[in-house]
Amino acid sequence: MGILDSFRLDGKTALVTGGGTGIGKAFAIALAEAGADVALIGRRSEPLEEVSKLIDSLGCKAMSISADVKSKTQVDDFTNQVVSEWGKLDIGVNNAGICFHTPTNQIEESEWDEVIDTNLKGPFLCAQAQARVMIPNSYGKIINTASMSGRIINRPQFQTHYNTSKAGLVHLTHSLATEWAEHGIYVNSISPGYIRTDMADTPEIAKMHPVWLRDTPVNRLGEVQDLTGALIFLASDASNFVIGHDLVIDGGFTAW
Ligand SMILES: NC(=O)c1ccc[n+]([C@@H]2O[C@H](COP(=O)([O-])OP(=O)(O)OC[C@H]3O[C@@H](n4cnc5c(N)ncnc54)[C@H](O)[C@@H]3O)[C@@H](O)[C@H]2O)c1
Repeated sequence: MGILDSFRLDGKTALVTGGGTGIGKAFAIALAEAGADVALIGRRSEPLEEVSKLIDSLGCKAMSISADVKSKTQVDDFTNQVVSEWGKLDIGVNNAGICFHTPTNQIEESEWDEVIDTNLKGPFLCAQAQARVMIPNSYGKIINTASMSGRIINRPQFQTHYNTSKAGLVHLTHSLATEWAEHGIYVNSISPGYIRTDMADTPEIAKMHPVWLRDTPVNRLGEVQDLTGALIFLASDASNFVIGHDLVIDGGFTAW
């Protein structure tokens, strides 16, 4: 197999949570460009339908399902739906996430729970459901979207719950990777730095950009396309000896 062929995903089926917007949308389209059929999971149906049409136009199958990754029942249902319609699931991309900027003393218990349940319990439930359908095939690639915030403390904003959830997600990735390697399931994560999506580029948040850029050696925010090559690497046979790795893509932020 030629080197570029090892990145192809023809005949594979993939699922992307948070696939209607931002990084998840770019991941879903990249997977389809590499040849995979892609199921899109998210909270709102309209953006999912829009991405679904883009994937159709690339000649791959798409499925969009509105669901909440915090709900075990819904996670099990959408995972089983993919397998019942397409016969198997090869690639799980657990990308859905939320972030609030709140000083720790002001974080309500409900806000803490919302962040941890979405960013940490969600990927756990998704990965568990994915492994159940991947183990019988002795094959699977699971990629979690973590964050550089799992390694560093961002400034000037305060986001203790987010940082904690992403640190947990990196270690969840290590745990699952070592446990499921014997089943042919490869679990890794991608940890983006600041990427220009709704999460990092609203007018309110843009006021912090000068500080963020000062701390980023390349002196720019990342674009979603800065992450997609890594996603396809981790989703494909090109990474068949990569297990439990957290791939940081941050324009050098954590190098300083
Ligand atoms: N943008 C950045 O700078 C940045 C940096 C590091 C990590 N990340 C991570 O990347 C991932 C994608 O974020 P983004 O920047 O594309 O922002 P985004 O807000 O565009 O995407 C988040 C997606 O998750 C979905 N989602 C949220 N809660 C959900 C739930 N309970 N059930 C189902 N879907 C849910 C949303 O509908 C949305 O589509 C997140 O996990 C985020 O933490 C983003």
